[in-house]
Formats: sequence, C-alpha cells, structure tokens
Amino acid sequence: MRVDNTLSWANIPVNANPNHQRAEWIKLSSTHTNTMNKRVILITGTPGTGKTTTAKQLAAKLDAQYINLTDYAKTYDLTSGEDKQRKTIIINEEKMRTKLTQTINNTDKTNIIIDGHYASAVTPTDLVTKVFVLRRNPKELKQFMEKCGFEGAKLWENLSAEILDVCLIEAVQTQPGKVCELDVTGKTVEEVVNDILDVLENGKKCYSGIVDWLGMLEREGLTDQYLKA
Ligand SMILES: Nc1ncnc2c1ncn2[C@@H]1O[C@H](COP(=O)(O)OP(=O)(O)OP(=O)(O)O)[C@@H](O)[C@H]1O
Ligand SMILES: [Mg+2]
Repeated sequence: MRVDNTLSWANIPVNANPNHQRAEWIKLSSTHTNTMNKRVILITGTPGTGKTTTAKQLAAKLDAQYINLTDYAKTYDLTSGEDKQRKTIIINEEKMRTKLTQTINNTDKTNIIIDGHYASAVTPTDLVTKVFVLRRNPKELKQFMEKCGFEGAKLWENLSAEILDVCLIEAVQTQPGKVCELDVTGKTVEEVVNDILDVLENGKKCYSGIVDWLGMLEREGLTDQYLKA
C-alpha cells in the first residue's frame, strides 16, 4: 500500500540490504532519452528532504511543467481511500501511472518535473530521463521534520526510511541506470538546483550509493537514538 505522507516499511523491498547493494550501485548513471524528445525528471527523497522547494525552483529555471504528486492525486482523484492511522491518502498507483503517461505525452513543455517520494514507482520507466534522490543527514533531517510539524510515528517512520535508503533502493530498482543521489545536507536550495543543472545541462557525472547514514550512526554510537521505527 502506498501512502502519501510517509515512506512506509511496506515499500522496503524484500531482501533489500543497503550495505550489500551499495557497492553495486556505485556506477556511472547513463543519460536516458525517451522517444518523445522530452526530459522527464523525477525529484524524489524522504519527506522533508526538500523535494518541493527544490523542484519548484528547478522548474522555474527550466520553464518546465511541474507536477507535485500529492496535489496531482487529489486533482485527478488518483486515490483509493485514506490511511486513517497516518492521516493521509492512499495512492492508486495504476491510475496514477496511466494519468502521468497522458500528461507527459500531451504537454507541450520539453521538460517535465515530477516531485514526490514515490515518483520512481509511479512514472513509467520508458518515459523517465533522470531521477534525483535527495538525501539529508538524519541529524539535520530530524530538525527539518520537526520544523515542518512531523512528530511521533510519522517522524520516526520517515527518519528510519532515510537511514535505510528506502527511497534510493526503490529508485535504483525501478529506474536502473538513471539515478543520481545528491547529498543536500547543509546546502542551500540554490546550490542543490545548480547541482541538478550541472548534471542535466553540463553533463556532470553523478552516482548512486554515495551516502551511508546507517554506517555513520553506528560509528558515532547514535543508531538507537535515530532508528526507532
Ligand atoms: N536546501 C534547503 N535549505 C534549508 N531549508 C530547506 C531546504 N530545502 C527545503 N528546506 C525547507 O525544509 C522544509 C521541507 O522542504 P520541502 O517541503 O521542500 O520538503 P519535501 O521533501 O517536499 O517534503 P514532503 O515530502 O513532506 O512534501 C521546508 O520548510 C523548506 O522550506
Ligand atoms: Mg513536498
């Protein structure tokens, strides 16, 4: 089940072991072009990493069509109910995939930017050009989340998802060869947007497998303090 405001444990793939997979992910990301000469750019990451802030600024710079998946699901009724416990909508992934295909095919914009923590899973792979996974050090992310009003189970569930690379794993599995992981810790929005533009416009290489929050927390003896979900 895919819920909108939380990266749920259910989204962690079976057999996912970030530490084993990490070495395999450290590879150059090839640039993929779809058949329509459009660039479909996904901005994903754990809730609170800065997707919306970054994606909107990027969309303005590229004169892109901007799609926020939360708003999109509500506008086009792409839901299949409500998760009462998490106080959020449940996404109908199949409906969303179909609607996104229509929107991408029909837009007259060259660049389409899709913002959402499940963007990798719901955008058809053959249409996607690049996936940027925003990563934020859990120490800083916890502060951001608190500032945004996250608390209790929602905060710990999302923080654990960041520590365990849930979003990255899903991106690498669903959009192989297109994933750029960006450590945005301590960076301004402008810096993050410029990092993305360097890849998209200037051919800068990017990688996946660049952060290891779990290893960092283990080395610092902080695992129990941050991994509570
Ligand atoms: N680079 C940054 N530096 C400082 N603050 C930032 C940065 N990026 C985002 N923020 C702030 O962090 C908070 C979360 O950002 P944002 O809403 O863009 O995250 P999100 O990933 O879209 O979250 P959600 O998944 O809940 O929609 C906001 O208060 C935003 O202003
Ligand atoms: Mg957002």
